[in-house]
Amino acid sequence: MTHPLVFFAPSGKRGRFPEGTSVLEAARKLGVDLDSVCGGRGICGRCQVQVGDGQFSKLGIVSAPDHVTGWNAVEERYTSKRGPLAEGRRLGCQARLCGDAVIDVPADSQVHRQVVRKSAAVRDIAIEPVVTLHYVEVREPDMHEPSSDFRRLQEALEQQWGLKDVTAPLESLRLLQKSLREGKWSVTVAVRHKREIVGIWPGLHEQGVGLAVDIGSTTIAAHLCDLASGEVLASSGIMNPQIRFGEDVMSRVSYVMMNPGGDVELTRAVREAIAEIAVAVTREAGLNSNDILEMTVVANPIMHHLFLGLDPTELGGAPFALTIDGAYQTRAAHLDLPLSSGAYVYVLPCIAGHVGADTAGVVLSEGPYLKSEVTLLVDVGTNAEIVLGNRDRLLACSSPTGPAFEGGQISSGQRAAPGAIERVRIDPVTLEPRYKVIGSDLWSDEPGFAGETAATGVTGICGSGIIEAIAEMLLAGLITPDGVVDGALAARTPRVEGDGRTFRYLIRDGEPRIAVTQNDVRAIQLGKAALYAGVRLLMDHYGVAAVDRITLAGAFGSHIDVKHAMILGLVPDCELDKVGSAGNAAGTGARIALLNADARTEIEDVVRRIEKIETAIEPSFQAHFVAAMAIPHKSDPFPHLE
Ligand code: FES
Repeated sequence: MTHPLVFFAPSGKRGRFPEGTSVLEAARKLGVDLDSVCGGRGICGRCQVQVGDGQFSKLGIVSAPDHVTGWNAVEERYTSKRGPLAEGRRLGCQARLCGDAVIDVPADSQVHRQVVRKSAAVRDIAIEPVVTLHYVEVREPDMHEPSSDFRRLQEALEQQWGLKDVTAPLESLRLLQKSLREGKWSVTVAVRHKREIVGIWPGLHEQGVGLAVDIGSTTIAAHLCDLASGEVLASSGIMNPQIRFGEDVMSRVSYVMMNPGGDVELTRAVREAIAEIAVAVTREAGLNSNDILEMTVVANPIMHHLFLGLDPTELGGAPFALTIDGAYQTRAAHLDLPLSSGAYVYVLPCIAGHVGADTAGVVLSEGPYLKSEVTLLVDVGTNAEIVLGNRDRLLACSSPTGPAFEGGQISSGQRAAPGAIERVRIDPVTLEPRYKVIGSDLWSDEPGFAGETAATGVTGICGSGIIEAIAEMLLAGLITPDGVVDGALAARTPRVEGDGRTFRYLIRDGEPRIAVTQNDVRAIQLGKAALYAGVRLLMDHYGVAAVDRITLAGAFGSHIDVKHAMILGLVPDCELDKVGSAGNAAGTGARIALLNADARTEIEDVVRRIEKIETAIEPSFQAHFVAAMAIPHKSDPFPHLE
């Protein structure tokens, strides 16, 4: 018997095998990444390979008996049901070696394919989910050889997939007998960590899906992902229904403290919302929520506790002790979620009492621990969560920025929503403003603005709008670096108006009137000084006078204009093209943890190594805070703004 040489691209792996060996078998023996759900039965189509160019390869891979198409009967059956294979493609489990061959494994046939994330600054991830699908044919029960259905399923999994001593929870066992008989003794099982059955279907089931969830205090966002390709099949975001118990996290903790059983109500509310999302996104993808095989979650510490059903009371005051800070996983059924029979929920680790699993998600997504440049990650909310460092060291803290950046405590403030002013420019000569609202592409001085703006009309000003307004007021000389609205300019423009003993600047003189008052400037100064002081504290601990890169995470970070944030002194000086937004990086972190098993170990290790700095007990925090009240700063230079 001859032993043809086979060469696989792009891996470069090669070897000799007895003539007649299937390409899938050769790939497995060489450790080549070639997918398969049906175990080589010619029904899933995941094992497709491309016969390499050149007569040499074509001759080497034809298989009997059909010498016209080169396909065998199984491939004929597959193509008659599923449509033709692309030119030059064969099912790797059916094509047999009958001569030397060069074989390409296309990206869509690789198990560990790469997914390119949106941001060019971050690494790609390999798809290596914790749950994989396996089609098996199970022996029928036999009076002469009595054994249980599960025992015979275990045998089949070992023989056909090399999976030993696989276990199953009761929830999956309950589906076993019906599935085996419905599937005429063939089933597809979803196996977690090669050990435990978390889903079971009669016959061939080709798609395994998972859900990545970001539980924010205001919104809950989720992505339904194909576990084999990483593709996002559907996404959804809804308001966090806990808002009816309190606008921000601290008021929800107060609700729990003042109302016995309040934590149960809040837990039920968030779980019901996630169940609702699971149903909605799977329906959109033409699936059922019980097709979801795995779920990952990121959340701030209080949302994290309430989702898991842990009392958040201790997080309402110093020393902000978490019940658990490590990653945690439990069955979806224990959390009343309508996912697959044995599905698990994996919650990323929390970093500290005020720095949650959402920040761990940002760290995993941005990967500062893989780089040499010193990166500053900032997630701004009523609390800013701040991480600084690189591959040598990472430090984290949180800083109480207050609600101003989300529009709270601002006279015309509102959350970022259609109708909110989000961009402001002020002419330094005429002192006339122009603005843009969320939901409209037009500036306020462009023709058609009045009639064609957002459907809601103009409703208020959001965090990014107020930041731009105050930065522009500084550039136009309307406020001093101390943050005082200059009343002397009332002589130059009617837009500067008296407001009791102080002055305000009118951005919009219509209904509603929108102005920046002295109190608004103060609220933003307090918030930005707290944020900056937290950043400086971490820089002191790290021993750097400047950072190489700044990434703003979260909804606020994606709306904010970098230059205006720096003019205001919200973040320290940095090259402008090294300051950017990561969008919903926490959600991306949840997605990475869903699609790559190693990423979980990675972020768990990284979080354990992060040095936590508690701003409340740092003596220098107050001095940094006072210096940062000036706009942009009392003493720190901002050379990149010049
Ligand atoms: Fe399923 Fe080849 S492994 S078709």
